[in-house]
Amino acid sequence: MLSRNEYSQLKTVIVGDATGAKIPVHDISLRCVNYADKPNDDQLPTSGLYPQQVIEESNEDIAKFIQFLEGESVQVLRPDPAHDPKYYTYCPRDTVFVHGDKVLFTPMALRARAEEFQAYIDLFKPFDVRKEVVLIDREDSLYNDKCIGDPNVLALNETENCFDAANILRNNDDIYYLVSNSGNKKGAKYLQGFLGNNVKVHTLENVYSYMHLDSTIAFLRDGLLLANPSRIKKKEQLPKSLQNWDIIWAPEPVEIGHYPGLCNSSPWLSINLLSINEKLVVLEEHQHNLRQELEKHGIECAMLPLRHAVTLGGCFHCITTDVERQDV
Ligand code: NVA
Repeated sequence: MLSRNEYSQLKTVIVGDATGAKIPVHDISLRCVNYADKPNDDQLPTSGLYPQQVIEESNEDIAKFIQFLEGESVQVLRPDPAHDPKYYTYCPRDTVFVHGDKVLFTPMALRARAEEFQAYIDLFKPFDVRKEVVLIDREDSLYNDKCIGDPNVLALNETENCFDAANILRNNDDIYYLVSNSGNKKGAKYLQGFLGNNVKVHTLENVYSYMHLDSTIAFLRDGLLLANPSRIKKKEQLPKSLQNWDIIWAPEPVEIGHYPGLCNSSPWLSINLLSINEKLVVLEEHQHNLRQELEKHGIECAMLPLRHAVTLGGCFHCITTDVERQDV
């Protein structure tokens, strides 16, 4: 049985790799999905490899993180080093959805990420689970360029199901799916069909238009979540099944900056944490205010560096996919 939530005792995890990370060739998918917030085309970064400094320092930080995980007796798996990504394998969270006896390599929103699943698929060979790769066409008609400069228009039309795995958070039989530029409604329906009737997919809509759910909320244990108050302003924005949870409102993030001209996320990556278990999480090392809040709730924080988290667009939740957690 593979992991079904975000917080029970972690046993096996995939950790991403910054090697070969690049800004892909510009196309309509990149323009709409990653850069809808940039009204002018000349604000987009040039295609090509990220600077060597970004890649090397990220891999140094990842090596420290792996050392920490192994010290916690967590088994670490890595992307296939032979895979040369058209985007990156820094964020396995975006690509691979794991739940119980099922693994889904999701139909990702960016064309450049269509083959990224190949870096991870063999890691699941030892597990007796149902694996599915969702292939889609990504025609131009999937993308709505009216989203550029307007967060009220989403990047994805409903022509086919399309979503990144990082649009999803899991709480056992309840799955939460953000409808946004990196996941359409058709994708949520597809996921519901894939998971079957014993599991319920709840959607969050009109909460955050851009990419992924894991800088908006984090599940700390059943009944306790961490919320980003710049996006969740009242409980009613959450699906009903979360409205009776206790909420820790995240403090303002400590900004860690980014490489000049290369920024893939907001400072709210501060809440993009990885839970080792219900009492221990990994935070980016500058997030002391968040640490204080979490400690009030009996959650210890391991503070680790990830210098280019904002540059590459992923902190400790994004750069991992938890494969096995103790079942609850
Ligand atoms: N797109 C998100 C990061 C997702 C982990 C943000 O910029 O906050």
